[in-house]
Amino acid sequence: MSQQHSALASAPTPAQAKRSDWWRDAVIYQVYPRSFADSNGDGMGDLEGIRSRLPYLRDLGVDAVWLSPFYASPQADAGYDVADYRAVDPMFGNLLDADALIRDAHELSLRIIVDLVPNHSSDQHEWFKRALREGPGSALRDRYHFRPGKGEHGELPPNNWESIFGGPAWTRVTEPDGTPGEWYLHLFAPEQPDFNWEHPAVGDEFRSILRFWLDMGVDGFRIDVAHGMVKAEGLPDIGGDGDQLKLLGNDVMPFFDQDGVHDIYRQWRLILDEYAGERIFVAEAWTPTVARTANYVRPDELHQAFNFQYLGTHWDAEELRKVVDLTLEAMRPVGAPATWVLSNHDVTRHATRFANPAGLGTQIREAGDRELGLRRARAATLLMLALPGSAYIYQGEELGLPDVVDLPDEVRQDPAYFRGAGQDGFRDGCRVPIPWTREGSSYGFGTGGSWLPQPAEWADLSVEAQTGVAGSTLELYRTALSVRRAEPDLGAGDSVEWLRAPEGVLAFRRGEFVCVANTTGESVTTPAYGRVLLASGEIAEVDGDAKIPSDTTVWWTTA
Ligand code: GLC
Repeated sequence: MSQQHSALASAPTPAQAKRSDWWRDAVIYQVYPRSFADSNGDGMGDLEGIRSRLPYLRDLGVDAVWLSPFYASPQADAGYDVADYRAVDPMFGNLLDADALIRDAHELSLRIIVDLVPNHSSDQHEWFKRALREGPGSALRDRYHFRPGKGEHGELPPNNWESIFGGPAWTRVTEPDGTPGEWYLHLFAPEQPDFNWEHPAVGDEFRSILRFWLDMGVDGFRIDVAHGMVKAEGLPDIGGDGDQLKLLGNDVMPFFDQDGVHDIYRQWRLILDEYAGERIFVAEAWTPTVARTANYVRPDELHQAFNFQYLGTHWDAEELRKVVDLTLEAMRPVGAPATWVLSNHDVTRHATRFANPAGLGTQIREAGDRELGLRRARAATLLMLALPGSAYIYQGEELGLPDVVDLPDEVRQDPAYFRGAGQDGFRDGCRVPIPWTREGSSYGFGTGGSWLPQPAEWADLSVEAQTGVAGSTLELYRTALSVRRAEPDLGAGDSVEWLRAPEGVLAFRRGEFVCVANTTGESVTTPAYGRVLLASGEIAEVDGDAKIPSDTTVWWTTA
């Protein structure tokens, strides 16, 4: 269908096409397809469900929608294990649904960014199945990382790398003759074998996959594990006897952030630029520093990279200021916009992170002080949306959803949960389906329940319950996004001018716009900088001063 389709592919609307560099200050909303909206009552979200909710996203005021994977997949890692990169999994619909979704989005002036998973495939991918069938030395095995084991009988893994999900990064296969045989590399679950990007067929295949979706009319790609495809030559052991997962955040590992990965992106960029309509790449690249992240967004590579250093920052003025400065400094020389993100499908939602003491990391199982968490989350959002660059919103954060920390173990699906023997892998808590209505099966998510149970309190957090309610988190997001569109200084540029502020308070000016965020646990007094555009809590102004309650952010205009 691709050929016929490409001729008919939906193009951005004229208004979209006219606006150049739309992505530099875009607000991009992440949809997690299985948990957004279910059109056929099977308890699992789908493309048709997403399509039916596009007007909601338009009204929310976002510029683009990033869809987590909806490709044919056995769902060993919720779709990040792709069996066929050119097919939609039947649980989500089919290619016609994808086409209709892209077209409708464009009609509503929304762009669509799809997820691309090039580091690994599913173990049910045709290539991997053939590699297993055809045995050691076969051509298909070269497209993955197969190696003989160490030890007298090959009973030990080829090196000491550990999977991000826990346990060894290698699994031994049973050869077609029934004997224990070679091992293959999987940085994630065993059902996710890593591709060998040294093999030319892998690069050819992904360039073709890019074209397939570009021809379908998508506006860009979020690249999964964008720092992972190239491995250090010889697959060397990792030194030291420390916890490898701890090293991940601090050191360049032999399987992550290798310089060779940038050659791939230079080639991809040439392909993307052949297509009209300013399409973009965004990298999921976990690197030790923002300076290394900047390498991914050099002018001839990708457009944006997620700012995970920002995501990991506590609600603390000093830390926040530091990461904002480091980010802007790192991005300036390469001319890429900064990005800001607080939540996604892999981490505990920020309303719950901020409800707990700092320093617990991004996988938290405690509900903490929910009211405090929500107050800080709302303040953090206004801070994020006041920074120059592009911002990412994860579905449900606009409702102030907390993580569901008490899911029964038997409903959990995160493979990391099972591999980590319960020590890690609590990502299901941020993947619980969205409540749309106060009543009804799964609060309007669908008509047939939901694949993860929703807490009863979510009725009051539903879209219906918050719509039109002054001060609700949903209305705060809507207003913030419309102010952001209307204020020329918001989003644009690459710097902030810090203003003097009491300890624990962040204050900065950007042209006629001023943002003040109070991260202290108490109210503070600052100058009233002008006309209040928006505040995440109730503020009081007396004689030119503003009293800002604890954990509150205020936007002013001096115009
Ligand atoms: C990325 C995805 C995550 C997935 C992993 C393996 O980090 O965001 O959900 O488990 O890659 O594909």
